[in-house]
Amino acid sequence: MNTRPAITLVLGDITDQHVDALVNAANSSLLGGGGVDGAVHRRGGKAILDDCRRLRASRYGKGLPTGRAVATTAGELHAEHVIHTVGPVHSATEDRSDLLASCYRESLRVAGELGARSVAFPAISTGIYGWPMDDGARIAVRTVLESAPASVTDVRFVLFDRAAYQAFETAL
Ligand code: AR6
Repeated sequence: MNTRPAITLVLGDITDQHVDALVNAANSSLLGGGGVDGAVHRRGGKAILDDCRRLRASRYGKGLPTGRAVATTAGELHAEHVIHTVGPVHSATEDRSDLLASCYRESLRVAGELGARSVAFPAISTGIYGWPMDDGARIAVRTVLESAPASVTDVRFVLFDRAAYQAFETAL
């Protein structure tokens, strides 16, 4: 039986998505930033930040390590959960692909634990963290196909511009 999820590409803003779990391209502090992270906190409201602060005061005193994922409420977003993951900053001298793959794998594992069936991902690390879009897209698609739990049936990549959309289309 094929347990691979259906993959959909969407051109748009991830904070407009109606899904069970929406993945945030966060940083280790979990306390917000720009890009996707800024939009998630802005549109999701204070409940998300309150949960993040609780995580920092308990399990993640030193911050969420790169490549890991953790869930909070989705506040006012059209989702049940936000899964925060920390992508690697791209490096020209060190191969950090495993850490980027780990973001997708860990986010899907958390989604599975939460019973989420539909999950929306941004193109993690391809903005402020500087990862080349084509390579980021290949890692994203490959890792989702390899590691999605059977309970996750719908994976949506939400791409902010046409170049990102095309990179994911090619990767698929
Ligand atoms: N919806 C969908 N995609 C978006 C959106 C949006 N609302 N906004 C940006 N993108 P980035 P990173 C695209 O920078 O590279 C934050 O400050 C964007 O064009 O959000 O993982 C965090 O706090 C790019 O292709 O995440 C961290 O410090 C992709 O989403 C740092 O940025 C990811 O861009 C994380 O950097």
